[in-house]
Amino acid sequence: MAVIAQKCPEINVTVVDINEKRIAAWNDENVENIPIYEPGLSAVVAEARDRNLFFSTDVDAAIDKADMIFISVNTPTKTYGIGKGMAADLKYIELCARQIARVAKDDKIVIEKSTLPVRTAEALKSILDNTGNGVKFQILSNPEFLAEGTAVEDLLDPDRVLIGGDIDTTEGMDAVQALVDVYAHWVPKDQILTTNVWSSELSKLTANAFLAQRVSSINSLSELCEKTGADVNEVSRAIGMDSRIGSKFLKSSVGFGGSCFQKDILNLVYIAKSFGLNEVADYWEQVIIMNDHQKKRFAENIVKTLFNTVSGKKIAFLGWAFKKDTNDTRESAAIYVADYLLNEQAEIVIYDPKVTEEQIYADLDYLGTRSEEENRKLVKVVNTPVNATEGAHAVAVLTEWDEFKELDWNEIYKKMLKPAFLFDGRKILDRKSKEAIGFQFYSIGN
Ligand code: UDX
Repeated sequence: MAVIAQKCPEINVTVVDINEKRIAAWNDENVENIPIYEPGLSAVVAEARDRNLFFSTDVDAAIDKADMIFISVNTPTKTYGIGKGMAADLKYIELCARQIARVAKDDKIVIEKSTLPVRTAEALKSILDNTGNGVKFQILSNPEFLAEGTAVEDLLDPDRVLIGGDIDTTEGMDAVQALVDVYAHWVPKDQILTTNVWSSELSKLTANAFLAQRVSSINSLSELCEKTGADVNEVSRAIGMDSRIGSKFLKSSVGFGGSCFQKDILNLVYIAKSFGLNEVADYWEQVIIMNDHQKKRFAENIVKTLFNTVSGKKIAFLGWAFKKDTNDTRESAAIYVADYLLNEQAEIVIYDPKVTEEQIYADLDYLGTRSEEENRKLVKVVNTPVNATEGAHAVAVLTEWDEFKELDWNEIYKKMLKPAFLFDGRKILDRKSKEAIGFQFYSIGN
């Protein structure tokens, strides 16, 4: 929304949320204090805020004034009832739809921005048409393909923008065109795709499934590389240079995380199952199984290497975010590696340049594996890498922050217990120089 406001000065954009604390943070005088860390975002907000970009908790007023309403609430995986652990929980979407229907006094275009299972637009339409004040709604699907850490860059220069609508009717086409006109302020027309609503909804889920599948595929090979003496980086370079395959999303890691991949694949699996397509469901589910295996395997290897016990040993984690350049930790591999090691009674000391202590404890508490007191007893969060690694038996790199490459590894080695183990879950460190220092070095896939 900030980028739309920046690029379309004649359009007023109001972002509303019922969470007062969050809206206050978006309005913070110091624009560096906005709640999301994303390179370039604060500059965009600084330019547009209070010009044509507003943040407010007055949801009804914003609905009333708007011609277009983007629904961007979260759609977490259900934790209860039918579809538990797989289906998307649409309760927030439904609450939004009911509120829009109650408040709207004139025709509106309602846009699904949240990633939704196929045919959600139908449910939205039914709620809007049946509980509204007789006004007309057009529903569009406009999934977001930005990746975190490069969000602003991705929005300014997207591979494509996808808009799904009721393209069989004139009113539907008009609504699609209205949204095309917004993006056309900065995106070339031939990169704005228009489709029917269902294609648009399904494309978002499957784009993520394909990306995640590549990571799981290369991660499955990383294990084979370790057994055979092949090097996964060399393998991925060789595969990636085939232009039909391409080089992106072939970087082996401790496992993918983030708010989308796991959730969207589980969603896809659930939809396939609900249509009785069991082979299709199993096929995609394997991507998740492989990812869980990769996280577990990394943790198991730490235990095995540290002479089969980490009980009472101090293990330093460098990184907690699910990838670099973001403070987002949703589904981060680090959470699961930590949980595994904590079950083995390890003591973990964590340093991440952007993730807060509060967030780290919240992530561990959310798992429900042990009490909040135990999490605080066994896990410490510190402000520098040196504080994390001092006196540690092992260091594990869980996020590929650039600064970890530049650390004074000689100094770190000196202050660690010996033998000093270093586990690189992101393949950002060079083996030779680390072994020359004296580290027992493990890197995924070679
Ligand atoms: C993803 C999609 O890329 C984006 O299009 C969609 O809109 C939202 O979901 P995001 O979750 O922000 O974006 O991160 P992404 O860069 O795709 O990375 C996801 C995970 O895969 C991260 O944990 C990352 O570290 C991991 N990854 C990615 C790898 O392990 N290896 C790779 O080669 C690429």
